[in-house]
Amino acid sequence: MKRRDFIKTGIVGTAALGFTPTALLKSQDCPLTQNDILGPYWTENHPNRTLLANADEPGTRIFISGTVKANDCETPIENAIVDVWHANDNGCYTIFMECDSGNSDDDPYNLRGQMITNENGEYAFETIWPGYYAGRPKHFHYKITTPNGLELVTQCYFEGDAQIDSQWEEDHQGLIIPLDESGSNLYGVFDIVMDEELIQVGTQNEKAHLLEKPILYPAYPNPFNSSTQIKFNVSRQGHMSIGVYDISGKWITSLMEKHISPGAHKLNWNGNDMLGKPVSAGLYLVILKFGAHTISKKISLLK
Ligand SMILES: [Fe+2]
Repeated sequence: MKRRDFIKTGIVGTAALGFTPTALLKSQDCPLTQNDILGPYWTENHPNRTLLANADEPGTRIFISGTVKANDCETPIENAIVDVWHANDNGCYTIFMECDSGNSDDDPYNLRGQMITNENGEYAFETIWPGYYAGRPKHFHYKITTPNGLELVTQCYFEGDAQIDSQWEEDHQGLIIPLDESGSNLYGVFDIVMDEELIQVGTQNEKAHLLEKPILYPAYPNPFNSSTQIKFNVSRQGHMSIGVYDISGKWITSLMEKHISPGAHKLNWNGNDMLGKPVSAGLYLVILKFGAHTISKKISLLK
């Protein structure tokens, strides 16, 4: 299997490469993945993809995979959003700074991407190994959002980095991963333990109720100008109602009113009201109603 295919087909390929996720945190105590600074280079709306660096991006190719787990260190969290962003080979963030190299395809989201964990809580991506800047160890920035809305901002560092001293190691436990070298590529596993409430709540019924909750992902792009895509997921069939409202609660238009099957769905809103007339620029709410659940997300229309 080509390495690119391995990443595209997800994490299943890791076993084929003889590369199994580390059995992290087997001990009784189960440390949560600690947070770390967001830094100045975060952006919204990273594209959904597992290949963050195009083929011409200078640097050593690196393949990272991992599992997002609940706070028992076992239960995988499906449908978590994993955002990753990082510097180029020269330690330069190509979409914020003037960089001497990198981003040869003028990608506005170069070295950035968003992945959704699969039913085993797994994610994976391919990119290049970031360079140093400002005396910091090499690192990937992460922002993880669970379907319940729990957010963790953190970073992933690498064992043996010359910029990591014992104090840094002490302060960043659980964030420094080993890398395996194979051919000219690097491979690493970064598992993430979230302080997820889901497994802490009472009865099986309550858990089932929570699991039944649909997932409404942030619209993309947002803000938008001509059209924005809205993705959502349901774990059972049922009647789905999705509408757009202005922030005063006035109904603008309906995007969906129908019985749907379990799984991932998507639709677009082109910024028109129910009469097909373009609405004015501003903030709107997408409101999803499914069974007993109502979920809303803000969306911003620019003109
Ligand atoms: Fe950074």
